Amino acid sequence: MRTNVVIIGAGPAGLMLGRLLELAGVDAVILERKNPDYVLGRIRAGVLEQGTIDLMDRAEASTRLHAEGLIHHGIDFSFDGDRQRIDFSALIGRHVMVYGQTEVTRDLMNARKAPTIYEAEDVEPHDFDGKSPYVTYKQGGTTHRIDCDYIAGCDGFRGVSRQSVPQSALTLYERTYPFGWLGILVDKPPVAGELVYAHHERGFALCSQRSPTRSRYYVQVPVDENVEAWSDTRFWDELRLRLSPETAENLQTGPSIEKSIAPLRSFVAEPLRFGRLFLAGDAAHIVPPTGAKGLNLAMSDVATLADALIEATIEKSNAGVNAYSAKVLQRIWKAERFSWWMTSLLHTFPETGAFGRRIQRSEFDYLCGSQAAQQSLAENYTGLPS
Ligand code: FAD
Ligand code: PHB
Repeated sequence: MRTNVVIIGAGPAGLMLGRLLELAGVDAVILERKNPDYVLGRIRAGVLEQGTIDLMDRAEASTRLHAEGLIHHGIDFSFDGDRQRIDFSALIGRHVMVYGQTEVTRDLMNARKAPTIYEAEDVEPHDFDGKSPYVTYKQGGTTHRIDCDYIAGCDGFRGVSRQSVPQSALTLYERTYPFGWLGILVDKPPVAGELVYAHHERGFALCSQRSPTRSRYYVQVPVDENVEAWSDTRFWDELRLRLSPETAENLQTGPSIEKSIAPLRSFVAEPLRFGRLFLAGDAAHIVPPTGAKGLNLAMSDVATLADALIEATIEKSNAGVNAYSAKVLQRIWKAERFSWWMTSLLHTFPETGAFGRRIQRSEFDYLCGSQAAQQSLAENYTGLPS
């Protein structure tokens, strides 16, 4: 088989790239290791920046998003029970939308006309340093080969694409954190109209939502925590302790419909182009989820990559593919900085002791008293221009 672009991974990055290429008349085959139900079963991000909404419009996959997505004009911060609202609309005239990653993925799956090859095993990119790259994979015991012009590695942090690049060609920047987020999904109305990010001496907590009747809550836990150790009752008791008394009073609890722990990590690989292979989304970088940037960053990478590949295929110009890595890394590092900052402000770091907590408190007090600081937060949270 031959195609213009082989996309490895059918997460939001791969599906969006596939859709943008399809609409521009560039042929692309998507290879995904798992089956569609597995991909849709992963509960992840929930907040979309305007740039992501615009891209869903461009992908002609946004009808349901506009009907069901919830516009949020601000977020609430709580620090040891003291509260501060950050009013995005009043500060900078922008907002975000609450609409789950699962729904984004489902909408992109439904919009795609060309088939996606699911349950593709042992996917391997080859010869991307030369002019004739190809990708092999196995299905039902048979090995298949797809020849192409370009390969897009959209296969997440543990995918094969980045691992196929000679390690000497890569520079990796990484910070791991000694904690993760224990998250649960519950069919109960959200505790508040907007998201609540809470710092407490027992650890961080986040009250998020998916719809007027479905909520998503997280608490910071040690990185080696076992999810089995957390009954629903234990989770609700711990969450209540970390919220302000008024918020805790409004909490409606119920049986969890999903419960999992995600480790927190900051990670960037450089560069993001190796001949005819490009990395995008979580294959290229990871942010801790505190700034709600992971999905949005993946989307902005593939918007730039799609334009570059369309230009290379249709106009036969390499300007976009040559500029891709440097261009997206600019934005990636800004999102890394913001996500690291939000994480540092809101979590407990046992190793920094009493001094570290006083610095966090002072940062929160500064935020409460400074319109400039609030504007900076609002600008970053709602999404920097690409
Ligand atoms: P992915 O969504 O990881 O998609 C990659 C796809 O590639 C997957 O479908 C995978 O099955 C496939 N794949 C992997 N290896 C291969 C292979 N060898 N061959 C073929 N296919 C392969 N962000 C937030 O903003 N908020 C959150 O709350 C949040 N929670 C998260 C929780 C977890 C556990 C994780 C892992 C991430 C979370 N994120 C969150 C980040 C956000 O979900 C990601 O940034 C986003 O999914 C990135 O999309 P992607 O398409 O680049 O990668
Ligand atoms: C979520 O709803 O899952 C969510 C929202 C905001 C974040 C992280 C996760 O910062």
